[in-house]
Amino acid sequence: MKGIVFVKFNEFIEELWGEEFWDEILDEADLSSEGAYTTVVTYDDQELFKLIGLVADRQNISEREAQFAFGKWVFKEFYSIAPSGAHDFEDVFEFLHAVQDFIHVEVKKLNPNALVPEFKFLSETSNKLSFHYISPRQLCFFCEGIVYGLAQQIGQAVNVSQSECEHEGGQRCVLVVEKV
Ligand code: HEM
Repeated sequence: MKGIVFVKFNEFIEELWGEEFWDEILDEADLSSEGAYTTVVTYDDQELFKLIGLVADRQNISEREAQFAFGKWVFKEFYSIAPSGAHDFEDVFEFLHAVQDFIHVEVKKLNPNALVPEFKFLSETSNKLSFHYISPRQLCFFCEGIVYGLAQQIGQAVNVSQSECEHEGGQRCVLVVEKV
């Protein structure tokens, strides 16, 4: 995963639980990068999964909750580095289409080794949209959190759930976003 994700995870954890907690987690994780993350480098995905697991253990929350909280927090950071044109959308559903059609495409153009998920849109009405989240990283709970962060940024209230989830015995992950 790109360094930006790790740098932001570090900031997120320090903001919530302090620098000392982050250092303790790093010590325990014993990572090959030693956790000295910079945005320009690509790091092993397993490092992020290990750190999320340790945070969840120590804070007595589930990995799902940890991923979700990080996604919700990180959206504003992604938004601030989003390509021009990405800030023109005032609707969550329009923005989600734009992520697939243009924003993640631009991210890949700038960083050819970036690995972004694919969204396959399955159904849409004026207040309910569902899409298939496709990624070998299986970060659907992180994705749910990002959708919440997006809605917060745009000022629309939504509920996000999954009608199918690979982590719960499903064949795929289908996110359902409802405007409330
Ligand atoms: C503000 C616009 C956005 C920008 C600039 C952006 C950028 C990025 C970047 C740089 C990565 C890391 C790629 C890598 O590590 O190789 C990423 C990953 C990801 N993005 Fe976006 N993103 C945006 C919006 C969104 C939205 C709205 C969603 C959710 C619907 C989303 C879902 C994800 C997920 C789940 C990942 C993790 C990788 C994976 O699942 O395979 N992104 N994005």
